[in-house]
Amino acid sequence: MTTANTEKPAQISREELFKNIISHSKEYGFVFPSSEIYDGLSAVYDYGQLGVELKKNIREYWWKAMTQLHENIVGIDAAIFMHPTTWKASGHVDAFSDPLIDNKDSKKRYRADVLIEEHVAKIEGKIDKEVEKAAKRFGATFDEKMYRTTNPRVLEYQKKAEEINARFKSALEKNDLAEVQQIIVDCEIVCPVSGSRNWTDVRQFNLMFSTQMGSVSEEAGTIYLRPETAQGIFVNFLNVQKTGRMKIPFGIAQTGKAFRNEIVARQFIFRMREFEQMEMQYFVKPGEEMKWYEFWKQARMKWHNSLGIAQDKYRFHDHIKLAHYANAACDIEFEFPFGFKELEGIHSRTDFDLKNHEQFSGKKLQYFDPETNSSYVPYVIETSIGLDRMFLALLSNSYKSETLEDGTIRDVLNLPAFLAPVKVAVLPLVKKDGLPEKAREIMDVLKFDHLCQYDEKDSIGKRYRRQDAIGTPFCITIDHQSLEDSTVTIRHRDDMRQERVSIEKLPAIVEDKVSMKKALKTLTY
Ligand code: GAP
Repeated sequence: MTTANTEKPAQISREELFKNIISHSKEYGFVFPSSEIYDGLSAVYDYGQLGVELKKNIREYWWKAMTQLHENIVGIDAAIFMHPTTWKASGHVDAFSDPLIDNKDSKKRYRADVLIEEHVAKIEGKIDKEVEKAAKRFGATFDEKMYRTTNPRVLEYQKKAEEINARFKSALEKNDLAEVQQIIVDCEIVCPVSGSRNWTDVRQFNLMFSTQMGSVSEEAGTIYLRPETAQGIFVNFLNVQKTGRMKIPFGIAQTGKAFRNEIVARQFIFRMREFEQMEMQYFVKPGEEMKWYEFWKQARMKWHNSLGIAQDKYRFHDHIKLAHYANAACDIEFEFPFGFKELEGIHSRTDFDLKNHEQFSGKKLQYFDPETNSSYVPYVIETSIGLDRMFLALLSNSYKSETLEDGTIRDVLNLPAFLAPVKVAVLPLVKKDGLPEKAREIMDVLKFDHLCQYDEKDSIGKRYRRQDAIGTPFCITIDHQSLEDSTVTIRHRDDMRQERVSIEKLPAIVEDKVSMKKALKTLTY
């Protein structure tokens, strides 16, 4: 049996690791650039034959955790197109925009806030370098905390970063775009392409895609591709509450596509122009929102923890500057190969959305409380996670390139077994002597419960490698002994262990290892 080398593997940079993940996911049919034969479409991706399975499994796990485990949460599937007034009421027409700036020489467009944030990050990077150098210089006696609070150069950098941040925050609060531009000028930020400081003014740019409905070409016919799925839930609040006889607190869950004309669209499927969200709006009694906000923070972290990813890969990030509709908000951040970034948002949205929809539609969106015999507009706690970001989190956490004891490399995806695209590979040792027929018999039993792959091409070692690379948790090998005693070997992806088991027991063994039920059972609330 080949085993993984326990020696420390040669370190590769985060950039290199991220590049490897992207090429791995293309090579094995997880994610392709959209319309690639025409050179692709920026920040739009297609999911391939394995990607679609992984994505479906993540969605299903989220969906079951929400709607099956909570008796008071139901799902809907609202249309992508909505009445255009929806987006007036939600604030997206007036306020869903990014501050943009163009470089006159390169003609490249940037998000002004990103240019400033990157500049501050560079200054902070200088601080880290100073600390690193000092740590080397002083060795075991180095006191990092003391150094960071007393070293004059570090303090100077810190002061600079804080000043820029404070100026920027104040400019954003006042919506002072001229000041945002002045910060870029004062910080001497250059265009990464032309290297020049020849900037235009800063303008606000709305991120919603618009199109025309029917044959009307004027303004009146303009509709939007939804930038979040949440509004489909808000406008259906009363439909669901009444027809489902829902009592507060209750939730409505939805998964589906959302569209944003992102300006800085980088980092593969992390930030796309067409993506999928999994959102849940939890309607609560006003005054009880903080209790439920805390509840959903813990519940969502528990869901993430049930995926078997190390806890230190996650952290909460509380929003300091709250959106105008929120009275509390945080992100669950994940450590992607390019650093800690937002994976999921948890927001206490008050009654902002329902109240505005009441006002714009002229229809009451209130809950009649039979206990107090009065009506009120509920408050809302929202949990909102990007399906594509969760996909990327799982992929980047599970991708490993291991050097085995015999010096060969194996690429493996240690995905949670219940989320893996293919659950079982059925492999006859050779293509003759009745082994393929026996293997087909096994396929015909397992395929009704699990996605299985049958493979008889190449050596068994190569076939194992192919399955490791796509994250298949189990390979079943049928050999000559199988014909004599109805046993097969089952090989485990993570430790490459092999055991001999009876064919009769296979369905139960596989089910036990790949069942989503087990993971769901850890999610008691
Ligand atoms: N309804 C609230 C809402 O949409 P958001 O923070 O703008 O909040 C929620 O988005 C989640 O959707 C994010 O945490 C992220 O996972 C995902 N998301 C947002 N923009 C995205 C994009 N351009 N590409 C991929 N995922 C995105």
